[in-house]
Amino acid sequence: MKKQNKHKGRLITFEGIDGCGKSVQAGKVFNYLKKLKKEVILLREPGSTPVAEKLRKILLDKKLDIPDLTELLLYEAARSELTALKIRPLLANGAVVLCDRFYDSTTAYQGYGRKLNIKMVKSLHKIATGNIVPDLTFVFDVDLKTAASRRGKNPDRLESQSLAFHKRVRRGFQEIARTEKRRVKLIDSSPLPDMIFEQVKAILKRKLKLT
Ligand code: TMP
Repeated sequence: MKKQNKHKGRLITFEGIDGCGKSVQAGKVFNYLKKLKKEVILLREPGSTPVAEKLRKILLDKKLDIPDLTELLLYEAARSELTALKIRPLLANGAVVLCDRFYDSTTAYQGYGRKLNIKMVKSLHKIATGNIVPDLTFVFDVDLKTAASRRGKNPDRLESQSLAFHKRVRRGFQEIARTEKRRVKLIDSSPLPDMIFEQVKAILKRKLKLT
């Protein structure tokens, strides 16, 4: 995963437990870069292509009982589709690609949360993405109670998992940030969105060399 990206564009990913506020921040970054006239696109995982959106419906369907390995492979299948059809060509054209979740979510949810073998999980990321590594990743970290209070009233299949599961997922994200400090920035997501965005913007300016 440490291999240097050779693409022209920039891939920036937004990560964290459900209810951490990452999607709000991804939207703010999108608007900010648009105003600066950057070529920017906001994608989400799983999703953002017809096949991946269908896989998303399956993955989040509470009525389905999905074995852990099947779940892992479906997330990676959605990622493989999105990477091939959108992320790779956009990066080759020099765009700034914002992705609301990427492979760190799989490490945290399926690796730490489901307790699948982390090495095996990471090797699947490489296959699904063809070794694309985000240039910058934000992990929005917040306590489980605050996160739960920010979620909608109708939890999906993943959101409906136990407190212990979500605790492991949070620890997974913290561990990813601890071990990949250069790429992954851990942001305290308990303040108000505008205050969080100030921090995000400062990091972004440095990383994208914006004035
Ligand atoms: P979202 O609600 O943030 O769009 O994400 C959908 C759900 O899927 C969320 O509960 C996290 C989960 N998820 C995984 O378990 N593994 C993954 O690889 C990804 C991308 C999401």
